[in-house]
Amino acid sequence: MKYFLDSAKLDEIRYAYDNYGIDGITTNPKHIKNSGKPFMQCVKDIAAWLRETGLEGGSFPVSFEINPHLETWQEMMEAAKVVSSYSANYVIKIPCCEQGVIAAKKLEEAGIRTNVTLVFSPSQAIQAARVGARFVSPFVGWKENSGDSGEYIKDIVRIYRNYDYKTEIIVAAVRNGHQIADYAAAGADIVTCGLQVYRDSFTHPFTDYGLGVFREAWDGTAAE
Ligand code: E4P
Repeated sequence: MKYFLDSAKLDEIRYAYDNYGIDGITTNPKHIKNSGKPFMQCVKDIAAWLRETGLEGGSFPVSFEINPHLETWQEMMEAAKVVSSYSANYVIKIPCCEQGVIAAKKLEEAGIRTNVTLVFSPSQAIQAARVGARFVSPFVGWKENSGDSGEYIKDIVRIYRNYDYKTEIIVAAVRNGHQIADYAAAGADIVTCGLQVYRDSFTHPFTDYGLGVFREAWDGTAAE
């Protein structure tokens, strides 16, 4: 399973890449806002970081969401072309609605990779796959917060396998290690999480307990 970092903050991106070897980045307008920088500054700064680290042009996708106020596929396409011109690694996040999926189809035909986002049902995921979107982002955390379940990931995986769709599934809005493991078991390709979720997923209370037991034993071991 590939791990993407869900953040637009360069310090977090550097940390996760250098220490965890993350495989890509996803952002959204909330992350851009939290970075404290204007949207286009984030687009430029992450492109510069990709160049510095030698990742430019390689298989390290970075998803940027275009202005969510855009309503027609033509407007979405125009905005997508501007963002994607800054780096070969850039993937354009497009909302899953009729105009968005049309934009994804035309962008993929034009050689611009897309990530169809805000996906909450298998039928939406099928639309993304049928037009050849490179990625699809079902938001499990939002579903689970609303009292629904993230079980639809299993259906999306099964449908994509049935029809040999090539779209990669990014399980998004992941809130804990339990979800990472559940969706890995379900066969999703990628998870995207904030840095704290990855940090938490290293830990277990029994690991801490066991360390205490072993430290005590170490300290009580006979001296040479
Ligand atoms: C994924 O690509 C999204 O950026 C993200 O996971 C959305 O959820 P969140 O910002 O609520 O975590």
